[in-house]
Amino acid sequence: MSELALLGGKKAVTMQTPDELFKWPIVTKEDEDAVLEVLRKGTMSGTDVTQKFEREFADWMGQSWALGFCNGTAAIQAAMFAVGLGEGDEMILPSLTYWASCMQIYTMRATPVFCEVDPNTLCLDPKDLERCIGPKTKAILVVHYVAHPAPMDEIMAIARKHNIKVIEDVSHAQGGLYKGRKLGTFGDVAAMSLMSGKSFAIGEGGILTTDNREIYERAVAYAHYERFTEANTVAATDLRPYAQLALGGIKGRMNQLSSAMGRVQLKYYDERCAEIRKAMNYFWDGLEGVPGLKALRVDEADGSNMAGWYCARGLYRPEELGGLSVTRFCEAVRAEGVGSCTPGCNNPLHSHPAHKTLDLYHEGEPTRIAHADRDVRTLDDALAISEGIGKTIYAIPWFKKFMPEYIDQYIEAYRKVATHYEELLVDDKPDAPQIGQWYFYKDKDDDK
Ligand SMILES: Cc1ncc(COP(=O)(O)O)c(C=O)c1O
Repeated sequence: MSELALLGGKKAVTMQTPDELFKWPIVTKEDEDAVLEVLRKGTMSGTDVTQKFEREFADWMGQSWALGFCNGTAAIQAAMFAVGLGEGDEMILPSLTYWASCMQIYTMRATPVFCEVDPNTLCLDPKDLERCIGPKTKAILVVHYVAHPAPMDEIMAIARKHNIKVIEDVSHAQGGLYKGRKLGTFGDVAAMSLMSGKSFAIGEGGILTTDNREIYERAVAYAHYERFTEANTVAATDLRPYAQLALGGIKGRMNQLSSAMGRVQLKYYDERCAEIRKAMNYFWDGLEGVPGLKALRVDEADGSNMAGWYCARGLYRPEELGGLSVTRFCEAVRAEGVGSCTPGCNNPLHSHPAHKTLDLYHEGEPTRIAHADRDVRTLDDALAISEGIGKTIYAIPWFKKFMPEYIDQYIEAYRKVATHYEELLVDDKPDAPQIGQWYFYKDKDDDK
């Protein structure tokens, strides 16, 4: 009989795993007390707690300013406005990301240009950047995708050469480092989600950080009417006459139940992430040299790290496994007892019809190009790696605690399937042309 559980063998994961192995966020009485205090005072819509959280978050980031938002989507939208995106401007971003790195741009009558990703980092490939730059390129939005730091040295060199602003979307990588420096401190502004599923999780929430006073003030003016006063507006002087209305037409205020939790989470975040890294690196060390499976991780020796390993993924190399489809590979790993092992990740954004034909504002032509000088949709033809990326990625368990005796079982599940791949080739079918999802919503942990 086969050793593979899918073909009748014994499962690799047999021990009942303790809740704490996967439970996230870690919520203690300190979080509960902080949230209850806001609730009992009834100051959910205030900003006193949020402003403390912002100061502490900015200090932790090593930036001058932080501005809390109701979610990451609003924080990113405000960042786009704050760097000056307006009608007809173009913003380059990787095609492989979640929609909220991008869709807000249409409210500014600006245009997204999708760039290729590097199959080894899943982040924007700087080698493809200059192809995407045109006369109207105003900004580059970088995503540190599934916690992997993007190559900021190369990206910043190109951006500075062409005088282009850089927004870092740090939703997947809060606290991560690139060559010893915190992600989100390389570009002109950083914005990120802090919603419950993220590694920095405080409920619905987002935050923007920057060292540039004018960018900060523009973000305030866009979405924080009661903090947008003449007196507070000293750098974005063109906006001063318009104080006290939210110029972007959105209300970005963070709920203080979230900021209260954020203050407590921040105190423990670095040490909790260090434990995650120990567990995740142990997992990958255990799979070193196994054919077909390549770790998506950084070399920590140069001072880089993956912080909280949000949405942990591995790289798949089917050519080392006789061409076995990632779909069948994942099916076999799930049969071993690893419920979370699914193929792919986000679908590449450029392949969605919204970026091809949608005429959102009844302008008689697709919104994406309604205000652009060129039909940037033709640039999408060169995104073959992004289109096929789903076939080269699979989910791995996201361990929150270093518990080797349990993690060993998960290592064994992946190792067993990869080393017995030949038995799986028999009934294998080709992967679907595109593997992935537009978004991930998770309210339960598949590995329990
Ligand atoms: C890369 C990325 N950017 C932005 C967001 C938007 O954040 P939020 O859901 O808090 O609005 C998310 C996720 O939710 C994300 O994954």
